[in-house]
Amino acid sequence: MTESLVTTHPPETGSPRPDTARTPGISAPVLEFLRERRPETPCLVIDLDVVAQRFHQVRAALPWAEVYYAVKANPAREVVRLLAELGANFDVASPAEIDLCLAQGARPECVSYSNPIKKLSHIEYAYRRGVRLFAFDSEQDLEHIAAAAPGSSVFCRILVASPTTEGGARTPFGTKFGCAPEMAVDLLHRAARLGLDACGASFHVGSQQLDPTAWDAGIATVARVAEELDQRSVPLRVLNLGGGFPATYLETPPPLAGYGAAIEESVRRHFGDRPLRLLVEPGRAIVADAGVIRSEVVLVARKSADDERRWVYLDIGRYGGLAETENEAIAYRLVTSRDSGPTGPVVIAGPTCDGDDVLYQRRVYRLPLDLRAGDHVDLLGAGAYTASYASVAFNGFAPLTTYCVPADALSPTEAASGTADAHGNGVGDKERRRCTTDVISKTVVGQ
Ligand SMILES: Cc1ncc(COP(=O)(O)O)c(C=O)c1O
Repeated sequence: MTESLVTTHPPETGSPRPDTARTPGISAPVLEFLRERRPETPCLVIDLDVVAQRFHQVRAALPWAEVYYAVKANPAREVVRLLAELGANFDVASPAEIDLCLAQGARPECVSYSNPIKKLSHIEYAYRRGVRLFAFDSEQDLEHIAAAAPGSSVFCRILVASPTTEGGARTPFGTKFGCAPEMAVDLLHRAARLGLDACGASFHVGSQQLDPTAWDAGIATVARVAEELDQRSVPLRVLNLGGGFPATYLETPPPLAGYGAAIEESVRRHFGDRPLRLLVEPGRAIVADAGVIRSEVVLVARKSADDERRWVYLDIGRYGGLAETENEAIAYRLVTSRDSGPTGPVVIAGPTCDGDDVLYQRRVYRLPLDLRAGDHVDLLGAGAYTASYASVAFNGFAPLTTYCVPADALSPTEAASGTADAHGNGVGDKERRRCTTDVISKTVVGQ
């Protein structure tokens, strides 16, 4: 099926737009950085002020929730440090992500090990580093947690079918995570008998969820689990609503406030006045809109003389950070320096020798007819699941470099590894705020 889409932003004025012109979707500090530094491409530039804004917007839209930033979305040290300073908690998936968060100022009590697939040795490590909150979705992982992290708080991830409607998740999780609700009841009961604090349950509605009501089914399911557990004297106190909050790509998502209202209404409907701590784990919604990937055109080619659709090969592709173009799930907005001229349909592909390294073929993107090798193509809203997904060196192409602006954080960061190096200038010496767990753990819905 071919989906026809308007792609590049219409030019504001005149002939080929210089990089310095105002560009919708690219912040002034990012434009200035690209103009002054002319970094080697491909690279990702993150505007930390936009990260902060988005964090505050999430908090404003979900004022009753404790925010655990999903580090996997963008593990740049500057991003993690900024969010720690702003009082975020962190959802981590591995020992390396724990180390990263603690090194950037997070306290262990602000960290949730939310990956239900983990080695016993990784649980031991997390516990040694002070982490006391763990997700699980299987008996074996639960036993590992009881053995290696005694007395910790645990929440069970439940498998909830997310809506498959047109307006649903752009990148659904399938059935890899979570267990059936009946099993969650048994496992949480077991957790309590193993000496753990069986505090709650979680579910995830799939990433880039465009339906604000998608949480309702999961909330209803957890409410039923809570009722069953009440009968076994294991009171459920924590509901982890996961991530899924959207960013802006070609499709503009509904406003965040609508998500907050829909979820709050659903929690009240299903849980009534029950005191409940609500957690969310947004990743994409906090960092995606803050990032721009600058790429360069490697080649523009036609497959035959009468082929109307040109192939545009960029110096970034599926393996260089654009993994979310698989099945064309995420459709980035594109901007070129030649957007003022006439456009024509294109297939967009990456630079590697891999036949799957094609970004958009089903969707019809249109790019300027005079686009040529050496021109820049900027991908907007690219701050999430890009640098963290880049391969180490497939075909010898280096992983995606991340830069953070404004200027006091102008240093490339090994975003994927999160390891400290000679760079690492931070975002200032603001006094570190307490994480929201401390601040609002007593906030309950229904009181
Ligand atoms: C357990 C968990 N929480 C939160 C997230 C973040 O999701 P999103 O970026 O859609 O907010 C993910 C994403 O993979 C996840 O696996």
